Amino acid sequence: MMNIDLSELDIESRNLVAGQWIGAADGRTFAVADPATDREIAQVPLCGAAETRQAVEAAARAWPDWRSRTAAERGSLLAALADLMMRHRERLARLMTLEQGKPITESRGEIAYAASFLDWAAEEGRRLYGETIPASHRQKRILVLRQSIGVVAAITPWNFPSAMITRKLGPALACGNTCVVKPAEQTPLSALALGDLAMQAGFPPGVINVITGDPHAIGREIFGNTAVRKVSFTGSTEVGRILMRQAADHVVRLSLELGGHAPFIVFEDADIDAAVAGAMASKFRNSGQTCVCANRFFVHESAYEKFAAGLARAMASLRVGCGFDENVQIGPLIDDDAVAKVTSHVSDALAHGATVRTGGDLAAAGPGYAKRFFAPTLIDGLTADMRICREETFGPVAPLRAFTGEEEAIALANDSPYGLAAYFYTRDASRLMRVAEALEYGIVGANDGMPSTAQAPFGGVKQSGFGREGGRHVMHEYSNVKYVSWGLGGA
Ligand code: SIN
Repeated sequence: MMNIDLSELDIESRNLVAGQWIGAADGRTFAVADPATDREIAQVPLCGAAETRQAVEAAARAWPDWRSRTAAERGSLLAALADLMMRHRERLARLMTLEQGKPITESRGEIAYAASFLDWAAEEGRRLYGETIPASHRQKRILVLRQSIGVVAAITPWNFPSAMITRKLGPALACGNTCVVKPAEQTPLSALALGDLAMQAGFPPGVINVITGDPHAIGREIFGNTAVRKVSFTGSTEVGRILMRQAADHVVRLSLELGGHAPFIVFEDADIDAAVAGAMASKFRNSGQTCVCANRFFVHESAYEKFAAGLARAMASLRVGCGFDENVQIGPLIDDDAVAKVTSHVSDALAHGATVRTGGDLAAAGPGYAKRFFAPTLIDGLTADMRICREETFGPVAPLRAFTGEEEAIALANDSPYGLAAYFYTRDASRLMRVAEALEYGIVGANDGMPSTAQAPFGGVKQSGFGREGGRHVMHEYSNVKYVSWGLGGA
């Protein structure tokens, strides 16, 4: 068994408020455990409303100075933080694998991905352009300014413990806002490590605050405190709905990146090898625990057997085990609830007539490991009455169904309340544009299983949420538009 000790990684486990490292006022803590072994790796502060209020107040105090800095000044600190992340990449990656379980090669990839959001925002902040608009009066001028919003709260998930923070923090800070970060209870340490590096990079006290603890108490304070002007959340649609209700009281601006249930279509004219490679990238990244994971595969009947056999072969080469093993591609699921959900999706599919081509159950990871490792699973015979066809699985399960025509494939793909990511493979250029336009999703991978990148807008439609992260579009999420009507005097 591979045991890494937190002390090897030199990680701060207290909370960051106003540039100080603090514990909960009443000294309470909660345990963070390694999902691969269930072994406790750290205790972090169990903070609540009082500490969150302190963090919000610190961010509010820091805002006037931070927003008055030039974009270049803010950008150079963001770039310095990105640089520090890359210099500490191995340490941060090991920490991520320890608290989240993802294979170490993916953790290294995530640190680079996380740093890329800071780099992108550092530069994009310089382009927060306003406008002048021709007025309808000779003695008037119309100006449009883009200004910071104020204190932004970032509520982030466990599946990408660093990148989902920097994807919010980078543009929020670049636009002149100050931030309170509330990481997921499962993965607070990566967030605290990021806070530590932010202090080393030279961010002024209060510009970045990190609070861990009771999600309900923290959330109530965030939405109850009028100094918080914007909340950006990545997580489930269920929690997103609750946050929308909480945001209503003070009409807090929201960005919500919620659940997905991505369709993956393989047309008869597709390059099947490329489709298999794309399916592997989309489905098995982070052991199937991403919002953009393909979760429903629709394959033209004439290509079905070739694609399914190719996918099964590629899946057979995936090694399941502890994320610290350099040869492993599938790590543990995050917790027992995740295992129960994945298991129930498979058993429900079987009860509704599906068959398992490969996998189908927990995989043995060896002595000392928790029962959290699920074998990559390929299921034939997906139908609409199966839970896996309606709900996000968040695990390494690929259910397949054959279709006969393009319209049918599009209808199957769009038959979901979610609308985050969709994928399809074809070599026909006209079909490519037609299908890309017809899919009711915020992100479409056309012959691409991995569309996520810092310079492109990431986000969903329908019950997958609203707002975009990444690209130039994200800057609108973190700035207010102000219209100035300038009277020059005279008639
Ligand atoms: C997510 O799962 O929420 C993010 C995935 C990505 O950035 O590609």
